[in-house]
Amino acid sequence: MRKVMLTFAIGLMAAVGVAQTPDYLNPQKPIEERVQDALHRMTLDEKVAMIHAQSKFSSPGVPRLGIPENWTTDGPHGIRQEVIWDEWGGAGWTNDSCTALPALTCLAATWNEQMSHLYGRTIGEEARYRNKNILLGPGCNIYRTPLNGRNFEYLGEDPYLASRMVVPYIKAVQANGVAACVKHYALNNQERWRGHINVIVDDRALHEIYLPAFHAAVTEGKAWSIMGAYNQYKGQQCCHNQYLLNDILKRDWKFDGVVVSDWGGTHDTEQAIRNGLDMEFGSWTDGMSSGVSNAYDYYYMANPYLELLRSGKVTTAELDDKVSRILRLIFRTNMAPNRPLGSFATAEHALAARTIAEEGIVLLKNDKNTLPIDPTRVRRLLVVGENATHPMTIGGGSSSLKVKYEVSPLEGIVERARRAGIEVVYKTGYASPAVAAQDVKGAVAPEKIFDLATLRAEAVEAAREADMVLFVGGLNKNDGQDCEGNDRESMALPYEQDALVEALAKANPNIAVVIISGNAVAMPWVKTVPAIIEGWYCGTEAGNALARVAFGDVNPSGKLPFTFPQRLSDVGAHCLGEHPGDSINVRYNESIFVGYRFADSRNIKPLFGFGHGLSYTKFEYYGAKISSPTIDADGTITVSVNVKNVGKCFGKEVVQLYIADSQSRLVRPAKELKGFRKVSLLPGETKTVEFTIDRSALSYYDDSVGKWVAEPGEFTAIVAASSTDPKAALKFSLK
Ligand code: BGC
Repeated sequence: MRKVMLTFAIGLMAAVGVAQTPDYLNPQKPIEERVQDALHRMTLDEKVAMIHAQSKFSSPGVPRLGIPENWTTDGPHGIRQEVIWDEWGGAGWTNDSCTALPALTCLAATWNEQMSHLYGRTIGEEARYRNKNILLGPGCNIYRTPLNGRNFEYLGEDPYLASRMVVPYIKAVQANGVAACVKHYALNNQERWRGHINVIVDDRALHEIYLPAFHAAVTEGKAWSIMGAYNQYKGQQCCHNQYLLNDILKRDWKFDGVVVSDWGGTHDTEQAIRNGLDMEFGSWTDGMSSGVSNAYDYYYMANPYLELLRSGKVTTAELDDKVSRILRLIFRTNMAPNRPLGSFATAEHALAARTIAEEGIVLLKNDKNTLPIDPTRVRRLLVVGENATHPMTIGGGSSSLKVKYEVSPLEGIVERARRAGIEVVYKTGYASPAVAAQDVKGAVAPEKIFDLATLRAEAVEAAREADMVLFVGGLNKNDGQDCEGNDRESMALPYEQDALVEALAKANPNIAVVIISGNAVAMPWVKTVPAIIEGWYCGTEAGNALARVAFGDVNPSGKLPFTFPQRLSDVGAHCLGEHPGDSINVRYNESIFVGYRFADSRNIKPLFGFGHGLSYTKFEYYGAKISSPTIDADGTITVSVNVKNVGKCFGKEVVQLYIADSQSRLVRPAKELKGFRKVSLLPGETKTVEFTIDRSALSYYDDSVGKWVAEPGEFTAIVAASSTDPKAALKFSLK
């Protein structure tokens, strides 16, 4: 019967003259053929429509040809709520509450590429389920100053670490048929004057510090899209920048994906046409301006472009290239064969979020075995601090999320303590103005706004009666406190938290401080408190992850992805460079001396060094050796070291490899990270960790010739537990 039907259908198709499937719809055809076929079927208007937005987050496909729309979403820590067509505001859906993953600083702090893969897979599945085909993330701008309001969305200060961590995220997202849109390309290292500030940086710093993570994202991660930054470079906006987009990204790196503007980052039609921008988003419109049938037609790459085309002032060469890139992205995503279906806000995703958080949380200090919390000694635990209850998945700008749930640190601790039979008492201790101004019912009570002394006194009194104090403070993603749009004004903790920590430590020396932040903060009380945790913004499962670390269910294994300086003047950008600049230009006079590279160059002791992080167990390094004392120009050598867990519990150690160049024509940093491995070790267990060194680990960017060069001569391989904790130094030379 089925056979009869089929014969009938084929006969019918032949009879009515149904054409063969066009090439662009045929998933068996190579993508480039599909792209060319679709392109040649499109009208000029259809092409121009495709290169700019039609709503806050979407752009048109070609309905006539059955080519679907593009739907973008923030990014980078979870899938943004559905918004009203032309606005940022929520559309009020009830089925768009996502899983919040930890902020990217926490991911970088795991120093574990598998965690980046898990992260990308999780967020990619959520994006796919929500029918988004472009995820606006990950971000990989380098941490240049602790004042940058968006550092929490990035992967730290080191180009090697950021490069290794960005690649698996992208690959795992894209395995879901969702394009990663790596941002913000490039040199977007501050929020102050971000829309126009012109970055003046030398070529060496550009290539050695600020570009490698983007280069890895494009050449190894094979990112299908990239977002131009808001700022300027060489006097041109980064969203249409000849040097960054045409010369470096598209010519040198052979990027075949789509350059998406940051929202409102397009400023000029002709530059947008010629200087590498492919898709324009977020140029201002309310979609309803008077007399305008469709306000999006007034985008730089809409009617103004059509007019230039129609008048013959520009040819379709650039347009066809832009449209080809967008079609390629659509065939890779929305129209890809066998695209998975995704999943959303599942228990599995929550577990992924918790696992990443647990691997990223950093134990900065732990004198007298203050942590983990020991139920045999602690019967009454006092938790202090607004950040113990403040939702951290909300705020911070475009990465703000509507979540299915978020476990606060207090909830996590209370639940874990209950199981250990520990009584928990909570005091706010301090409050940010927005919270302090509300009474319990949410009504504004202005007289409460600045009453920090009373809050402090209450907490201190409770501290005297507790066996242990856990202070949970830090920043909070409000304006100026780790938030898009503004930088921080100083490294200091806000709302008199320093005075509170000092007073609590005096009242009860058995205190652990948890800092929730995506940035280094000043710690004038560092010597007064025995234990400190960097707790990051950990997302949906934040409180559970923190509790499991604090109680020792999980042995901390995160390490800092950026330096905690003692003071701002210990940071290259502030000591030698400029921040935030003079409102027109910002000069990166510190050049390549960013983060530990600067601290090393001046022998400055940081508060906590790059790569630092403690464990509840101890690791011993021994037997470091190198496979050969010399390396050929195209050869490799191996550095190996044994690492033993000499403590009493299971733990993970991040073994780091730095390379130092002893003689070189150009000045080089004292050492640079060129390898890391995270190893798991049972008590008493030893593992041998190996690193392969090749020419790329020895090279620097020679700006006089515009190339990476490895100079023959002496080098040292430093095996280390952090940038400030070397374990072995092995000399070798490059022939
Ligand atoms: C941010 C981007 C974000 C976009 C869309 C911009 O303000 O800089 O990172 O993806 O908004 O929300």
